[in-house]
Amino acid sequence: MEEAVHKLLEAAVKEIATSGSNLQELDNLRIRYLGRKGELTQLFKELGRVPEGDRPAAGKLLNELKVELENRLSAAVEGAKQRLLEGREQFDVTIPGRRPLRGRLHPVTQISFEVSKIFNSLGFEIVEGPEVELDYYNFEALNIPKDHPARDMQDTFYISDDVVLRTHTSPLQVRVMEKHRPPLRIIAPGRTYRCDSDATHTPMFHQVEGLMVGEDISFGNLKGILTIFVHQMFGPDVALRFRPSFFPFTEPSAEVDIECVMCRGQGCRVCSQTGWLEILGSGMVDPEVFKMVGYDPDKVTGFAFGMGIERIAMLKFGIDDLRLFFENDLRFLRQF
Ligand code: DAH
Repeated sequence: MEEAVHKLLEAAVKEIATSGSNLQELDNLRIRYLGRKGELTQLFKELGRVPEGDRPAAGKLLNELKVELENRLSAAVEGAKQRLLEGREQFDVTIPGRRPLRGRLHPVTQISFEVSKIFNSLGFEIVEGPEVELDYYNFEALNIPKDHPARDMQDTFYISDDVVLRTHTSPLQVRVMEKHRPPLRIIAPGRTYRCDSDATHTPMFHQVEGLMVGEDISFGNLKGILTIFVHQMFGPDVALRFRPSFFPFTEPSAEVDIECVMCRGQGCRVCSQTGWLEILGSGMVDPEVFKMVGYDPDKVTGFAFGMGIERIAMLKFGIDDLRLFFENDLRFLRQF
């Protein structure tokens, strides 16, 4: 019996040590040794077979073993619990967590979305077209033939004799009218390209084109729509004016100026002391353009306009160098 007791104690001590302070495992050990069908209980049962004279001593030994096992197990359990608590304390709940990096839309994208949203709310459908464009759509169909001096207004990237990087979003006017019959109202945002680079020009920039065609569309409609746009974009108190201009694809044409947002019309460096800032080109669609797409200029009229997104963004955010939009300096971009 004595031998069995020593063996059992030895085995139990070893197992407690290798339990790795795992509470579940310690509980399994308790059941295995001290449980109702446990090994120790088994030894107690064998007490009956011990010669009567030795029985009291054997019983005492078993009781001591039981106490010993119980103590060791509860000490191990306590130790395991303590270690768990300590482990938890190493986790300082007051340290700020790592913030996930949050992306934002580029300011040019934000303004492009905002412009589209305003016109969308006025019933204009958003369309897109190719950046690599046929000369025909970029110039020819917009009443700018090959030898037309207006071609010099835009420094074009030619890919071949017939293919260019679009210099404006105006080709969308033609593409849409070719496919759809009036009435129509569209807005076309996108990238445009010109061979030009300084503080106010980048080889790639963004424009938004607008077109509205129907049976009785007048210059009054053009003024109304663009006035709503300016007031929603820059504020209801901002003054605007329509100044006569020329574009081959509109007649009459007008450029829209807004009251300088920097000096409120007083005159400053940004507005060259004039108090006004040009924001877009517009006009009534030229009958020649209608003819190109097979519309009858005696039956339909319409207006078109086009604006540079970067320019709108610069005025809206008070940015004085266009190149900031393209350098992708996070210190700049994070401000929007
Ligand atoms: N496409 C012209 C440009 O890039 C802007 C423009 C002027 C667009 C008048 C129009 C318009 O639709 O009617 O300079």
